Amino acid sequence: MGVRRLHPDQPHGFSFTPENLAWAKETIAKYPAGKEASAIIPLLWRAQEQLGGWLSEPALRHVADMLGVAYIRAYEVATFYTMFQLSPVGTKAHVQVCGTTPCMLRGAEGLIEVCKRRIAEHPHELSEDGQFSWEEVECLGACANAPMVQIWKDTYEDLTPEALEKILGAFARGATPKVGSQIGRKNSSPEGAQTTLSDPTLYDGSKRGAWRARFPELQEGGAAAGTKPVEEPKG
Ligand code: FES
Repeated sequence: MGVRRLHPDQPHGFSFTPENLAWAKETIAKYPAGKEASAIIPLLWRAQEQLGGWLSEPALRHVADMLGVAYIRAYEVATFYTMFQLSPVGTKAHVQVCGTTPCMLRGAEGLIEVCKRRIAEHPHELSEDGQFSWEEVECLGACANAPMVQIWKDTYEDLTPEALEKILGAFARGATPKVGSQIGRKNSSPEGAQTTLSDPTLYDGSKRGAWRARFPELQEGGAAAGTKPVEEPKG
């Protein structure tokens, strides 16, 4: 990860929309008196959403003022957590490509090549039309379906360079691409058919006798012999 700095070109000001301001006040009120500063992450996140995906310096100062903390408190949170973008992102899609080991072994480099070719040579650079940007990120928790990317709040998994091209094309057209596995996996189930625990006798009860014979210390219901059964609470 490179040095995270605020963008050199900043807008003049920031204020929450009336809806977001009401939400921000409600959020701050959820924290005990004197601990309002704990609302800093949700407020910065809402400010980022309002700004189309990035945090400006006026927004950081606005949130710090609302919470009564020094500006540095907002700067240090925003520059530490990579979920906060410090420069403008593409208006149609900001592509976060996972580059951690499982995704890298399964082809993340090919996805990065697509981003470089279709969007911009360097991460955090806007495409010429300002509609796209990309960055490489650490594990996003969908390793079983590697390689994957996250765009806004959705993940796109089991990708190939061609599949990512199609997804970017859909965003460019204003269409909604299919989210999740691109090869039809349900969640992170195995590709194709189930490969383990597939013997039906594991589930039909026919092995119960064999298990009792093997573990005679276990009684019906699974309680070990000699242990006192748990009594139901009375009344
Ligand atoms: S390594 Fe890519 S999602 Fe975990």
